[in-house]
Amino acid sequence: MRTQVGIIGAGPAGLMLSHLLHLHGIDSVIIEARSREYVRGRVRAGVIDSDVAGLFRGTGVGDRMDREGLPQEQMEIRFDGKRRFINWFELVDGRRNVIYGQQEVVKDLLDRRSRDGAAILFDAEAVRIDGLEEDRPTIIFRHGGEERSLRCDLLAACDGFHGIGRGRIPDGHVSIFERQYPFAWLGILVQAPPSSDWLVTCAHERGYAMHSMRSPEVSRNYIQIPLSDAPDDWSDDRVWSELHARIDIDGWTLNEGPIREKAKFDLRSFVCEPMQYRRLFLAGDSAHVVPPTGGRGMNQAIADVCVLADAARDFFRTGSEESLNRYSSVCLARVWHSQQFTASQTQMLQRHSFDDPYLRKQQLAQLEYVTTNRAAATSLAQCYAGARLKTSFLPDSEGQEYPRICEPPRPIFG
Ligand code: APR
Ligand code: PHB
Repeated sequence: MRTQVGIIGAGPAGLMLSHLLHLHGIDSVIIEARSREYVRGRVRAGVIDSDVAGLFRGTGVGDRMDREGLPQEQMEIRFDGKRRFINWFELVDGRRNVIYGQQEVVKDLLDRRSRDGAAILFDAEAVRIDGLEEDRPTIIFRHGGEERSLRCDLLAACDGFHGIGRGRIPDGHVSIFERQYPFAWLGILVQAPPSSDWLVTCAHERGYAMHSMRSPEVSRNYIQIPLSDAPDDWSDDRVWSELHARIDIDGWTLNEGPIREKAKFDLRSFVCEPMQYRRLFLAGDSAHVVPPTGGRGMNQAIADVCVLADAARDFFRTGSEESLNRYSSVCLARVWHSQQFTASQTQMLQRHSFDDPYLRKQQLAQLEYVTTNRAAATSLAQCYAGARLKTSFLPDSEGQEYPRICEPPRPIFG
């Protein structure tokens, strides 16, 4: 088999990349280890920021998101018995995020790719990448009991944190930066109407909790748990009693309902630099991971493939590798911004130590500051509401860079 862009992984990154490439007139083939049903059903995060929502609309995959997604103009932060609001609609030019499950994004992209005649091989596990040193990238994969190969001009590893792409960059060409937090989240999917029209996040002294949603009938809650706990350690009764203890507030109580799923998520920060080796490009979770605290994961994955799709277009049009060779540095500037934002959110919202009252007081002071000072709240709102896409699919996306206000010093004399 041969194609222009070989893609490993049919998550949001791989699917969106193949969609954008198709719109540029570039062929791709996706190799996906799991079955189509598994990929369509996998429950993950659910925040689409306003830039990425705009990209979905602008490239014809936003209709169902606009019909069924839950628009978000603000979020609520609770701490110390207080309710505070960060309203990005008001603070950042009328922006709206959308709560829409990642698996719904995946379904919409799969349906659109199928209508456009995409080549996606499910149950096909990539086992090796050959030919990189000769600039003849080839994916070796297992499919239907046979070993097969896909030769491509460019290879995109959109194969998530546990994929094989990243490991193919030779030692000495790569640096890894990472941090594993000493606690985890339990994600709880509940058959019950959301208790709020907006996301509620709680920096409670018993530990963090969040109330989010998936649809008018389904809520999504999270609680911070010890890293050593397993989902089975959390009976339904224990989940409800802890959620109520952390989230409820005078006059407001969390809706209960049958728990449909409990899953544990580690909190990890991770960056691989660079995100390119010759004609291999890493995108999404294969290159960088953030804790879920800032709702950034999927948005960052989509932002990468925007840059990659445009660089591939330049390459196939002109033969020049200039844009491709800028891919990593363009992405990493944004990736590190998002790393720093999520690390600071994690610092501010999670309970880091139950033996350090100083740390808790400092956290409360920071929460008080960012929810009362307009400049600080605006900064937070900007980070929640935009992935800062750079893409030819949104005509003025270059302008989404935040304005630089620190000009060089002016001469005082003369
Ligand atoms: N061969 C083929 N497919 C593979 C292989 C392999 N060797 N290894 C992994 N995959 C597939 C996985 O089965 C998965 O479907 O790659 C896909 C990677 O998808 P995601 O993990 O969803 O990663 P990405 O597309 O980068 O999306 C990032 O996912 O984890 C969340 O919060 C994160 O929202 C973010 C998003
Ligand atoms: C979710 O709805 O799954 C969600 C929302 C906000 C986050 C993380 C997860 O920060």
